[in-house]
Amino acid sequence: MSYSSNSWSVLYPQSDQRAHRAELAGALQRVCDSGSYILGAEVAAFETEFAAFLGAAQVVGVANGTDAIELMLRALKIGAGSKVVVPAFAPSAVASGVARSGAEPVFADIEPTTFTLCPVSLDALLRSPQGRCVKAAVVVHLYGHPADWGRLQQVADEHGIELLEDCAQAHGARWQGRMVGTLGRAAAFSFYPTKNLAAMGDAGAVVTNDAALAERLHMIRQYGWRQRYISEHAGVNSRMDELQAAVLRVKLGSLSKNIQQRRKLAAEYDARLRGSAVVTLPLVRGGCEHAYHQYVVRCERRDDLRQHLQEAQIPVAVHYPLPLHRQPAFGGSHVSLLESERAAEKVISLPLHPCLSEGAVDAVCDVMEALDHAGR
Ligand SMILES: Cc1ncc(COP(=O)(O)O)c(C=O)c1O
Repeated sequence: MSYSSNSWSVLYPQSDQRAHRAELAGALQRVCDSGSYILGAEVAAFETEFAAFLGAAQVVGVANGTDAIELMLRALKIGAGSKVVVPAFAPSAVASGVARSGAEPVFADIEPTTFTLCPVSLDALLRSPQGRCVKAAVVVHLYGHPADWGRLQQVADEHGIELLEDCAQAHGARWQGRMVGTLGRAAAFSFYPTKNLAAMGDAGAVVTNDAALAERLHMIRQYGWRQRYISEHAGVNSRMDELQAAVLRVKLGSLSKNIQQRRKLAAEYDARLRGSAVVTLPLVRGGCEHAYHQYVVRCERRDDLRQHLQEAQIPVAVHYPLPLHRQPAFGGSHVSLLESERAAEKVISLPLHPCLSEGAVDAVCDVMEALDHAGR
């Protein structure tokens, strides 16, 4: 193999900072010199620029993606006494954000092909006794693949619930030509350092076209203030800081190019792994443009494959090993959500990020082929 194991020594997100080193240094210096460190001109500029990128009216910068989910629900006055549906196969942050709002997270299953919320399962949940008091569903565009928004919206409309988006893994993905983040009443984003649009610390945002909702979000993120020092209600401290906003402004400039690169690498994996006896490749539903936050394959012998790749020093991960309805914090239900349970046992994320060097995809596929041949 010409690709040496040393080649994996600089991983994302460090490679992303290196790619922007000079610009980042300038931006960070600008904030140091400005004397303004929280919710200042950089945050305001980032909110405007990210809104323009998405084609949305309002972006409200907050401290992280989990807060974005909580604040989005609080601003919609969804809290104690209400339930909110979350796909069972998702990061636990989604259920935590819902629980922090005071609402109870309840879980529906995913579609096996795209790993996103299944409209049939959502409908069944809403018709069941557990569906009573459900006010909203948080639809996660997992791994960067847009959920089946049209069918989900039909179900939501039929039951009179709000459909909200979690775009933490899907910056730049599109559903039927529309940017995710603009599909529902509001959307939550994370800019955690590994995300497609990544800060150098924690940051998040809520996106909405609803001016009244944005106004409530502005207040909730800072102690319920409309006017300084006057709390109209008990808000929180979930402010975005100027350093993170300045970093995000730099990174936003290359987000589209980086997503193209992610798609190119995904196409390389597709071409190399098509026909593999070992793995099932990710599908892209018609009308969807995947943002490939992760390139995730299914594998019957997932743990063998993971071990085999790790022995070859290839950085792989399992997103996510335990579905939410089985997590100690949220479980306790005897409900079986088969697709979520199967996915947690079978998925593995292969290395994919825009700074991946030439030859990396081939190196991963060579190692996988060796297992493929050994297994035949
Ligand atoms: C889908 C999803 N939702 C929410 C979050 C929470 O974001 P944060 O880590 O910024 O709180 C994450 C990040 O891990 C995520 O991937």
